[in-house]
Amino acid sequence: MPEFKLEFANFSAPARGVLVVFCDDTLKLGPQTRKALGEAADLVARAAGSERFKGKLGSALDLVAPGGLRAARLVVVGCGKARDLQSRDFVRLGGVALGKAPSAGGDLTILAELPSGAMKPDAAADIALGAQLRAYSFDRYKTKKKDDEAQPAAIKVTIGVGNAATVRKSWDRRAPIADGVVIARDLVNEPANILYPDEFAKRATALRKLGVAVEVLDVKAMQKLGMGALLGVGQGSVRDSRMVVMRWNGGARGDKPVAFIGKGVCFDTGGISIKPAAGMEDMKGDMAGAACVVGLMHALAARKAKVNAVGAIGIVENMPSGNAQRPGDIVKSMSGQTIEIINTDAEGRLVLADVLHYVADRFAPKFMIDLATLTGAIIVSLGQEYAGLFANDDKLAERLTSAGQDTGERVWRMPLGPEYDKMIDSKFADMKNTGGRFGGSITAAQFLQRFVGKTPWAHLDIAGTAMGSPQTDINRSWSSGWGVRLLDRLVTEHYER
Ligand code: BES
Ligand code: MN
Ligand code: ZN
Repeated sequence: MPEFKLEFANFSAPARGVLVVFCDDTLKLGPQTRKALGEAADLVARAAGSERFKGKLGSALDLVAPGGLRAARLVVVGCGKARDLQSRDFVRLGGVALGKAPSAGGDLTILAELPSGAMKPDAAADIALGAQLRAYSFDRYKTKKKDDEAQPAAIKVTIGVGNAATVRKSWDRRAPIADGVVIARDLVNEPANILYPDEFAKRATALRKLGVAVEVLDVKAMQKLGMGALLGVGQGSVRDSRMVVMRWNGGARGDKPVAFIGKGVCFDTGGISIKPAAGMEDMKGDMAGAACVVGLMHALAARKAKVNAVGAIGIVENMPSGNAQRPGDIVKSMSGQTIEIINTDAEGRLVLADVLHYVADRFAPKFMIDLATLTGAIIVSLGQEYAGLFANDDKLAERLTSAGQDTGERVWRMPLGPEYDKMIDSKFADMKNTGGRFGGSITAAQFLQRFVGKTPWAHLDIAGTAMGSPQTDINRSWSSGWGVRLLDRLVTEHYER
């Protein structure tokens, strides 16, 4: 990632490098913006006409070396109907603005003003968040640059605001979230030869310096707990499985925690039910649920969230080998329930089964939310725009849906029910790990539900949203870090004291 430097300054500070300003869908500019542009303000209307720029949300008008301005480039970004703008829109606008920074790095000045005047502190901080997320790239394994590429310099972003001190305060809440997203993206982008279960666990222990209690359970410890479902998945790999339990206690003493559980399959070959070769490299990202949980715990701890939170991740590698689990094998989960393995590629639910039971049993949390790149079927259902949401609790589902609308990390509720549950009954054991060709995401969720007991629970199938991400205004990377912003918002809105 090129170095990203962020500053807030009052509007009157001189603009450096590329200057980004905002207008609405009548091309109106704010008063401070007009002042900063001087005569160049009139250029905007003229150029807009010839470029058919209408100020639509997220569109941009580029003006090179505008007369009367020190800035090398002036970019006018449309914000549509300024009164309708929500948090997710400001984040997006920050991404659009950063996208106008010179690719070789340098200065970018963004005037956080709407036609009606200075953006509210939270909105200006959202602009900064979007800019930082857009600036992310994963290039730690690139040793060569193309001939014409200079060493990329730092991107220095100055955001012009009405009151720098109050915006900085808003930013102090968001910077940890941005960092959490970056942590999640980095983990997902890392290849599996580098990021295997023990290494993943080690990286999670970095949270200790923020005051998070981090426990790492090895194979022996999990054997003692009877986690036969999780351990069965990892037994074919030379890389030992791990479970990591992270606890942040920022809430009232004795207040029940909220709990987040992540699928951490560092690589999913499918095991003996091996996957086809094409695209299998993407399965290095099959730990995106666990990555999100680590990123989220970072965000909560770094911003000292007033909540008690547990993060628990099951980390394994699913490999074929002489010691790998077979179709037909029957394993015993920590809950005592037995599982017939039909397809070794349906491994995520096996990992989650034991972690969900462990968390429900040990912490009796207010709720559990698990995140998992669980099924290809959810990508067929919802594409890459929405994650699948399954829940046994309507209030939790509604809160997640509304946090999704606020942040732009949207979820779509899917059904659960006894008819689907029946599909995973087994001839030989309490259940089987696949339910046939129909409703694959739903039968996977039914499987998980058998391990949550009475705990309010939601499952997010993020196979479509976490990786292989489309290029958006706030993300140019293969991984998105999906879920960190969503769950931080959920906690902020409903669970902080
Ligand atoms: N990790 C995959 C799901 C996946 C697929 C994630 C594509 C991201 C992109 C999961 O472990 C898996 O293999 N699921 C199987 C389940 C089937 C065997 C019942 C699937 O979706 O095909
Ligand atoms: Mn699989
Ligand atoms: Zn998987």
